[in-house]
Amino acid sequence: MKIVCLLGSPRPKGNSAMIAARFLETAAGLGAETRTFALNRLTYRGCQACFTCKTKLDRCVLKDDLTEVLESIHWADTVVIASPIYYGDVTGQVKCFIDRTYSFLTPDYITSSSPSRLAPGKKLVFVLTQGQSDPDRFAQVFPRYGSIMKWYGFGESHLIRACGVGPKATAAELEPYLRLAEETAKKILDSASSISST
Ligand SMILES: Cc1cc2nc3c(=O)[nH]c(=O)nc-3n(C[C@H](O)[C@H](O)[C@H](O)COP(=O)(O)O)c2cc1C
Repeated sequence: MKIVCLLGSPRPKGNSAMIAARFLETAAGLGAETRTFALNRLTYRGCQACFTCKTKLDRCVLKDDLTEVLESIHWADTVVIASPIYYGDVTGQVKCFIDRTYSFLTPDYITSSSPSRLAPGKKLVFVLTQGQSDPDRFAQVFPRYGSIMKWYGFGESHLIRACGVGPKATAAELEPYLRLAEETAKKILDSASSISST
């Protein structure tokens, strides 16, 4: 199992990073190979709408720090995207990445029954954290990005969502979500090992 994790928070030891780290540690302990990119440390642009990925190349023509990140999504079996909610959505760092994934779509993606250049069946783990404790607030963020990833051919998707965790969340407040991260990793690794042993 190859796992790539994108950290969307500028806080390297923040809530979303801690939850993602627990997922990755658990998965690595069960034999997964993991790679992590802290998007905030990278320099990249959003999609330039040049359409080169629809006319000349099967990849994004831009060469910047996101080039390796986009390639790593092709490589991975499971993709973890961890982001705090900023103004009701993922952070700008994650949104810029999402826009650049336009290169994952084939030129005829609007009409095609297989619109994605990614191998099918990758798994998605979305880690979302927010200060607001009401889970109805920003509940649409996961379905919004989950449906884009489904369009890209992702199979199952998992949500680890922590509501009511601000910048000073304590270890005790994070604990239930850290446990959920462990359980999610075990579930994904267990199902992968049962498929490979059949
Ligand atoms: C610029 C900014 C915007 C934020 N916007 C929201 C918001 O719209 N709703 C919310 O519930 N929390 C919001 N928050 C709080 C964060 O989502 C929350 O503290 C989160 O757990 C931080 O995750 P991190 O530690 O991984 O960075 C915002 C924080 C910042 C810095």
